[in-house]
Amino acid sequence: MHFVAPSLLAADFANLQRDVSMVDQSEADWLHFDVMDGVFVPNISFGIPVLEAIRPYIQKPIDVHLMITQPERYVEAFAKAGADHITVHYEASTHLHRTMQQIKAAGCQAGIALNPHTPVLLLEEIITEADIVLLMSVNPGFGGQKFIHHTYEKVAHLKDLILRRNSRAVIEIDGGVNLENAPHLIAAGADVLVAGNFVFTAETPTTVISELKRASLPKIV
Ligand code: DX5
Ligand code: ZN
Repeated sequence: MHFVAPSLLAADFANLQRDVSMVDQSEADWLHFDVMDGVFVPNISFGIPVLEAIRPYIQKPIDVHLMITQPERYVEAFAKAGADHITVHYEASTHLHRTMQQIKAAGCQAGIALNPHTPVLLLEEIITEADIVLLMSVNPGFGGQKFIHHTYEKVAHLKDLILRRNSRAVIEIDGGVNLENAPHLIAAGADVLVAGNFVFTAETPTTVISELKRASLPKIV
């Protein structure tokens, strides 16, 4: 069964405690936490103090997605603030192998994120070190963007690479996920679906989370 990770970026920032508790009580598996520095991406979101503030209100793993340059400078601080997973961008990491070890030494699962233009084949020599590979299905920086269809092909390539190298990495998809593309992403091999606006703009976010959990292509009999 695949996982669903609602993205806090689309929550009501004036009611973070309420929205985090909603995710905790829903069928969601992880809470996705987007950190943007205004340099790696053209937007600034939230960081360490906000992670610390919400940590007591959720039992589920917090999946930190660092959209920042030189992410290695902040690994220990995010781990200490309560991150369970720390994902850094391939494009922002000069010494990615070292950073993967650093994240694991800090007690977290280590993830690598790829921008839409970054080929999966660049992971050939690092895939066995990763617990998570996050494929951006929009250009990072903003919620509410349109899903890039080429992602399906990337999921299939990544799945091949993971099987070929006997890697344990799970495939996480981030950006523009909804009930239309979710079944196709799952069919292509995705393990984790991040969803921001699709969850938080819904009238009943918990229902949408449950629907995403059950997303699958109809079986042909
Ligand atoms: C985008 C972020 C995403 C974002 C997804 O840069 O990494 O996690 O919150 O939001 P939606 O689902 O609205 O595209
Ligand atoms: Zn994200």
